[in-house]
Amino acid sequence: MSDSSLLPPNPVLGRLTVVGLGLIGGSFAKGVRESGICEEVVGCDPDPTARRLALPLGVVDRVTDDLAEAVQGADVIMLAVPVLAMESVLTQLSGMDLGQAVLTDAGSTKGAVVKAVEKAFGQTPALFVPGHPIAGSEKSGVEAAKAELFKRHKVILTPLEHTSPQAVELVSKLWQVLGADVEQMALADHDEVLAATSHLPHLLAFSLVDTLASRSENLEIFRYAAGGFRDFTRIAASDPLMWRDVFLANRDAVLRSLDAFTKDLGRLRAAVDEGDATTLLGVFTRAKSAREHFSTILARRAYMEPMQTNVINFVAAPGGRVQGSIRVPGDKSISHRSIMLGSLAEGVTEVEGFLEGEDSLATLQAFRDMGVVIEGPYHGRVTINGVGLNGLQAPPGPLYLGNSGTSMRLLSGLLAAQMFDTTLVGDASLSKRPMGRVAKPLREMGARLETANEGRPPLRIQGDSRLMGMDYEMPMASAQVKSCLLLAGLYAAGTTSVTEPAPTRDHTERMLQGFGYPVKVKGSTVTIEPGHRLTACKIDVPADISSAAFFMVAASIAEGSDLVLEHVGINPTRIGVINILRAMGGDISLQNEREVGGEPVADIRVRHARLKGIEIPVDQVPLAIDEFPVLFVAAACAEGRTVLRGAEELRVKESDRIQVMADGLQALGVRAEPTPDGIVIDGGTIHGGSVDSHGDHRIAMSFSVASLRATDEIHISDCANVATSFPDFIGLAQAVGIQVRLEESA
Ligand code: S3P
Repeated sequence: MSDSSLLPPNPVLGRLTVVGLGLIGGSFAKGVRESGICEEVVGCDPDPTARRLALPLGVVDRVTDDLAEAVQGADVIMLAVPVLAMESVLTQLSGMDLGQAVLTDAGSTKGAVVKAVEKAFGQTPALFVPGHPIAGSEKSGVEAAKAELFKRHKVILTPLEHTSPQAVELVSKLWQVLGADVEQMALADHDEVLAATSHLPHLLAFSLVDTLASRSENLEIFRYAAGGFRDFTRIAASDPLMWRDVFLANRDAVLRSLDAFTKDLGRLRAAVDEGDATTLLGVFTRAKSAREHFSTILARRAYMEPMQTNVINFVAAPGGRVQGSIRVPGDKSISHRSIMLGSLAEGVTEVEGFLEGEDSLATLQAFRDMGVVIEGPYHGRVTINGVGLNGLQAPPGPLYLGNSGTSMRLLSGLLAAQMFDTTLVGDASLSKRPMGRVAKPLREMGARLETANEGRPPLRIQGDSRLMGMDYEMPMASAQVKSCLLLAGLYAAGTTSVTEPAPTRDHTERMLQGFGYPVKVKGSTVTIEPGHRLTACKIDVPADISSAAFFMVAASIAEGSDLVLEHVGINPTRIGVINILRAMGGDISLQNEREVGGEPVADIRVRHARLKGIEIPVDQVPLAIDEFPVLFVAAACAEGRTVLRGAEELRVKESDRIQVMADGLQALGVRAEPTPDGIVIDGGTIHGGSVDSHGDHRIAMSFSVASLRATDEIHISDCANVATSFPDFIGLAQAVGIQVRLEESA
């Protein structure tokens, strides 16, 4: 082999030689052969049965047991023999003329293979590309070979510093032809990661089956061993020889994983022994949520990066009316706070009606990461085993808060007061949002925290800072800033008071009181002192008025509509949408008004009405801050002009909601002119067309509602984040008569 003259970029290969016709080698050979990108696939295996079966199974074009003959004239040589057999094959190869052949392998550990290559060749040749397909089956042998074995599986290549990029590209292409996702990784990282995710589970499966099989009552045990045993031990039927080699070859990394596991298993043993229910539940709930998260990654519905990995578009057919009686999901703001305060309380807090959206789940996960045992959510029920104000533990890594600004801003205050350091990170949208508004006052209280450029996330918060209470006049009306400082104030020496320029949602104050923590509210100032305790309680989360708002506008604009929205929170700091729609002529009545757990609630009946344009009163802006996207749709359907001012805050929400809504409305033929702090909309006809939601949940849902009055279909792109606040929006919208659906093959 020589390094200099590499293969031409032409992807069509002359000859591929696969050495080792087991499950992996056989599947690779068969897949490449069936793809037709290679003129000839040659197999080489010392086992006569494998050779006999390979031809009729269509795995290769030609087969031999003579290595020299097999590699003669090969463009690519794939080594698919057990890791410890590599050395002898490589030694033989080093004595042959391989021409310009690219050499690659499919071994499960990479360090040992590279060592064997070095030993055989004196150095690792530039045309050697170490690789590992993360795919397999408990079945072995050429008879189990499947051309599609690697489809949608990862293949990790671990090229070395001097590995030829062209050779890497060629090997990548071959795997891609088989439908695999090819990634590159440093060699040492590969062996460490695989020790934990593949080698350790195999060791455990082999060990458990062996332990049970050697017990005298084994027949009985196996007879009753159903789902769990079968699932857990499937991989114990894997090829013993191959796995023996893996453990010998990846000794050190496997030992590290095994030691960590043994330690944790010891803790679980102690918990079982001592009847320690909390520890057991803590491990199980954390594991369950991690496993579910893992399943969504496997299903390519990654919860971690919905905006980047999950392309979901909506299409909404024109016309229709809305009717019926529905309950929209739980209030997002209250759901976040129930987890936060429930975690800090003493005792067990039971939550009903919790919003199972990605934003509030991000908060829930953050507290699990800080050692709080939380059961659920199950049908909106969450049980939080509070740890008390000083019971949080350092999380194992950065807290990932997805799309959720509320999580990041509120947590920053709470975490600035803890003894441990934390880092808060978010998705692409959250990473652009301003955090200076919380960082600045927190620093004045003595917190030590850093943001990235221009006050953006990530937030790096240093623990063990002594916070001092202070009087803070907020420059903007923000419930998130207010809540952040109140949470910091729980721990600060002296009194913390926050004065707001206009009323903002007061869920934090109400809920603190619900947990028995004294909070003083006088005019526009809220005051809190340290030294008290939160006592666990029951929380009934009302339906979210921000989610109900889409249906309130829908019923208002679509002729013949009559809709009841059940059990909606009508906290006076949240009812701007009702006030504004009524001022526009909306027909909205509140029925069955009651108070549930310190929050006012009602059923809201909305009937179609002829809306008229208005100047939106500036004092309503903070009370309807999240509802403007859909109120702009109402304005587009109203007679005359609607003007919004004093709402510059909308420019720094999940998207720039003024610009994005103006662009979308204009694309649908509506006259909508953005201004620095608002928008001017002239009611008129909504045409069909395509709009971009910019990954903003509320924009996506607003344009779905607009379809009720559109003359043609509306296509809405980038809608995956609807799941942050309103899982199953589409289902509920369809149930009442909005003709929106997922666009197929986005
Ligand atoms: C929220 C407050 C509001 C709102 C957000 C939730 C809260 O933000 O837009 O969706 O739960 O405190 P600001 O307080 O920043 O206006």
